[in-house]
Amino acid sequence: MKARIVTLPGDGVGPEVTAAAVAVLDAVAAHYDHTFDYEQHLIGGCAIDATGEPLPADALAACKSADAVLLGAVGGPKWSDPSAPVRPEQGLLALRAALGVYANLRPLQVHPALTALSPLKDDKLRNVDVLFVRELTGGAYFGAKTRTVDTATDECKYTVVEVERVVRRAFELARGRRHKVTSVDKANVLETSRLWRSTVQRIAADYPDVKLEHQLVDSMAMLLLTQPASYDVVVTENLFGDILTDEAAALAGSLGLLPSASLGEGARGLYEPIHGSAPDIAGKGVANPVGAILSAAMLLRHSLGLEEEAGAVEAAVEHVLEHGPRSRDIGGDAGTAAIREAVVAALDEHVANSEAFFS
Ligand code: NAD
Ligand code: IPM
Ligand code: MN
Repeated sequence: MKARIVTLPGDGVGPEVTAAAVAVLDAVAAHYDHTFDYEQHLIGGCAIDATGEPLPADALAACKSADAVLLGAVGGPKWSDPSAPVRPEQGLLALRAALGVYANLRPLQVHPALTALSPLKDDKLRNVDVLFVRELTGGAYFGAKTRTVDTATDECKYTVVEVERVVRRAFELARGRRHKVTSVDKANVLETSRLWRSTVQRIAADYPDVKLEHQLVDSMAMLLLTQPASYDVVVTENLFGDILTDEAAALAGSLGLLPSASLGEGARGLYEPIHGSAPDIAGKGVANPVGAILSAAMLLRHSLGLEEEAGAVEAAVEHVLEHGPRSRDIGGDAGTAAIREAVVAALDEHVANSEAFFS
């Protein structure tokens, strides 16, 4: 197949991990006879420096007509002055809104070879397999903001339609998994959460085969640490989902491991690791590219419909996590390029083995 992929490497470690993901996509294209055409654009701080805007019009136009968008990370200390008139993160939020990607899928699995890196004991980590579905285009991120000298407000607003579509997506995804949805809110305090909860309850009636439970977000933050293996699909609003998934990444061993797919109604999606620009390690060639590479696997699956290829990339990553080399954040000393090469080599081997198996 032929696909047009826009890459937005962004800031900090973004370009380093995106290059690794592209190398893996290139290996997939070569093995499975696909043609991926890439078009690279600016987003975030580097875009502000070059154009004054965090999401230049040509970058947005390219994303809107691409089959998929692969993003690294945006932001960094250079652009983080709280009184700056324009911020890198605005570019990312504008992109998510413009693409209409309201459902952000953030899978968490704990690789058995990495349990020693997790703050939790081994027995709690067995069978952890959670799919977070984070609402991505509403809530406090997108409400009206006001600021005077001594007061600031961020409006948190949700409409029924916004809740309905992401919750339906969560129930649908649960049907392909273990048939359980946990909806996380703060319905004991927030009106938006009460709208969220009553909408979830109404929609659940259409999915009698899926078990539903509600959790309050503060309690959920605790339960993720005490019984992470009891969750299947976890659906929640934008801000809660942001916070809970960084916590979830710690269970896996590193923030550098988790991928994400942001989807709307069509096949076009936005794919990014869940981590940020990691300013403390940027430019050193030591960032873990696994989150970005697994995001590329999600791109193959969700936007291009290439399930076998996605599985091959995931198998290659599994192999490298088990046998090494490993990056610093997960206890090794290999750089980004070495991990990239190891994943590409494992992919070569995986493809060769499956060809031998089927011939
Ligand atoms: P961060 O995710 O950039 O880093 C947090 C910690 O995790 C750091 O110690 C970092 O070194 C480590 N880390 C992150 N990714 C890693 C990787 N791939 N390999 C190894 N270690 C990794 O979060 P932060 O420091 O709070 O934020 C820095 C900037 O990134 C901020 O400007 C923030 O807005 C931005 N950010 C962007 C995105 C995004 O573009 N999607 C996501 C989160 C944060
Ligand atoms: C993420 C990031 C972003 C978010 C920031 C950079 C806007 O933390 O993708 O998780 O909060 O959504
Ligand atoms: Mn985040």
